[in-house]
Amino acid sequence: MRPDPKLINVLALCGSLRAASSNREIIMAAVALQPDCMSIKLYAGQASLPHFNPDLEETTDLPDKVLELRSLVQDADALLIACPEYVHCLPGSFKNLLDWLVGCPDFPGKPVALFQATERHEYLPVMLRDVLTTMSAKVIEDACYELSARSNKLTAEALINDDNTRMSIAGKLKLLTKAVETGRV
Ligand SMILES: Cc1cc2nc3c(=O)[nH]c(=O)nc-3n(C[C@H](O)[C@H](O)[C@H](O)COP(=O)(O)O)c2cc1C
Repeated sequence: MRPDPKLINVLALCGSLRAASSNREIIMAAVALQPDCMSIKLYAGQASLPHFNPDLEETTDLPDKVLELRSLVQDADALLIACPEYVHCLPGSFKNLLDWLVGCPDFPGKPVALFQATERHEYLPVMLRDVLTTMSAKVIEDACYELSARSNKLTAEALINDDNTRMSIAGKLKLLTKAVETGRV
C-alpha cells in the first residue's frame, strides 16, 4: 500500500535482529510518540535479505526482498535508524542492508535521524555517520538522539513513562518533521 502523501512517512531501520533489542524498543517508543503528521513504519525484512553481491545488481531482476526494501526507501520522506555497535563496528546484517542501498537511486539526500539506545558505544556513532554520508544520506544532527543509558534491556513502555526521555524523543521527531518540511520547500 502506498503511503499517505499528506503525512511525513518515516522508514525505521533497526540494526539489531535480537528479539528483545533495545534499539527496536527505542524505535517503538518513537512510533508511540510520533506527531500526528508523521507515520513511522518499522522495516522487518533485514534478516531475509540476501548477501550483497554486486553481480546481482547487474542483472535485470534484483531479488524481490531487495526490490521491496528499495521501494520502501523510495516511499519514505526520511529514515530513522537505531543501530547497536558490534565489535567496534556495524552489525554484519545491517551493513549488508546498507550495501544494498548504495545502488538505490532514492537514497542520496534522504534525511536520516539516528537514535542511539545506549551511550556506551565509542565507535559506532562516528562510523555510522561516515558510512551514511559516504552514501550521500543527509544526517539531521538536530534530530539525532542518544539515550543516556548503558542497559540493553530497555522497553518502549519504560522509555515512554520516563518524562525526560518521552519529551526528548517527541522533540527530536518534531525536529525531523521540520527538516523534512524545510527540504520539501
Ligand atoms: C557480538 C557482539 C559484539 C558487541 N560489541 C560491542 C562493542 O564493540 N561495543 C559496545 O559498546 N557494545 C558491544 N556489544 C553490546 C551491544 O552493542 C549491546 O548489547 C546493544 O544493546 C545491543 O543492541 P540491541 O539491544 O538492540 O540488540 C556487542 C554485542 C554483541 C552481541
